[in-house]
Amino acid sequence: MSIRLYYFSGTGNSLFVAKELQRRLPDSELVPIVKSLNNGSYKTECDAVGFIFPSHGMTIPIAVKAFTEKMIVKDSTYFFAVVTRGGTVFRGFQLIEGALAGQGKKLHARFAITMATNDPKLKSYKQLSDSELGAIEKDVIREVESIAKTIAGRETNDFTDDGILFSRNKTVNRFFEFLIPTMVHNFSPKIKKYFYAKECCIGCGSCERVCLSGKIKIVDKKPVWQQNVDCYLCYSCINYCPTRAIQIHTKIWMKSYTEKNERYSHPYAGVSDIEKQK
Ligand SMILES: Cc1cc2nc3c(=O)[nH]c(=O)nc-3n(C[C@H](O)[C@H](O)[C@H](O)COP(=O)(O)O)c2cc1C
Ligand code: SF4
Ligand code: SF4
Repeated sequence: MSIRLYYFSGTGNSLFVAKELQRRLPDSELVPIVKSLNNGSYKTECDAVGFIFPSHGMTIPIAVKAFTEKMIVKDSTYFFAVVTRGGTVFRGFQLIEGALAGQGKKLHARFAITMATNDPKLKSYKQLSDSELGAIEKDVIREVESIAKTIAGRETNDFTDDGILFSRNKTVNRFFEFLIPTMVHNFSPKIKKYFYAKECCIGCGSCERVCLSGKIKIVDKKPVWQQNVDCYLCYSCINYCPTRAIQIHTKIWMKSYTEKNERYSHPYAGVSDIEKQK
């Protein structure tokens, strides 16, 4: 294969983009980042390499960081990255650039695609209607077509981020753009009681199946978030629980809205699609 599309996806948005890109790029293959980490497969062994993943706290997901720090890219010449996001500015490309620079390579093209957000702890979180989701899908397909052309031509781009900023004040933005990614990579995955399950849990096991880091184990028909396994913050567990039993702990976040809020997963991604990444 001449193009390898490494992907990570908690609720199917990035998986959708990865699949649509693969359809348009002959001689390309999809490779799940979680499986590569689990198997210790770090050699890229192809001409062009792409990374497709969600924005987590304005930066790359924990698993993507872990993979890009370990990958061995000497056989590859062209690199690109696609972030899917709910809408805020993204500051994670520099981590991939840094990992590539360490091996004498560069990131040739960067892309950001705005899709539905999968974060039910946001106050403003609301479920999108079918027509809103349809409109997003049309835009995504248009963007994917343009991205595929850039990749097929091995072109470089001048990425300008059109994501939403926190404030008009540059200092406030810089503060949050440092604080939030730092929390995502260093603090949140280790929080002891980040999630809990309410009584309405029916013991179906979906949360264990979709848990990309392997943190969740079903014990006596209830999920246990194992303390010795780090969380990837993919939010698959909370979004795929069929009874909405899973919540984010209110005592850790200033205020949690997860009990009131809806859940999200991409219309074409079910439990087995997420599980296949492991
Ligand atoms: C822990 C977490 C943090 C997130 N942080 C951001 C963010 O900072 N900015 C943003 O625009 N979207 C953010 N999102 C939304 C996702 O990036 C977005 O919904 C993405 O398309 C989900 O892709 P997936 O379905 O492939 O996981 C966050 C989602 C999660 C779970
Ligand atoms: S997915 Fe929800 S209902 Fe199923 S075992 Fe996990 S917490 Fe319980
Ligand atoms: S515990 Fe939930 S958020 Fe953390 S890795 Fe597992 S599924 Fe993802």
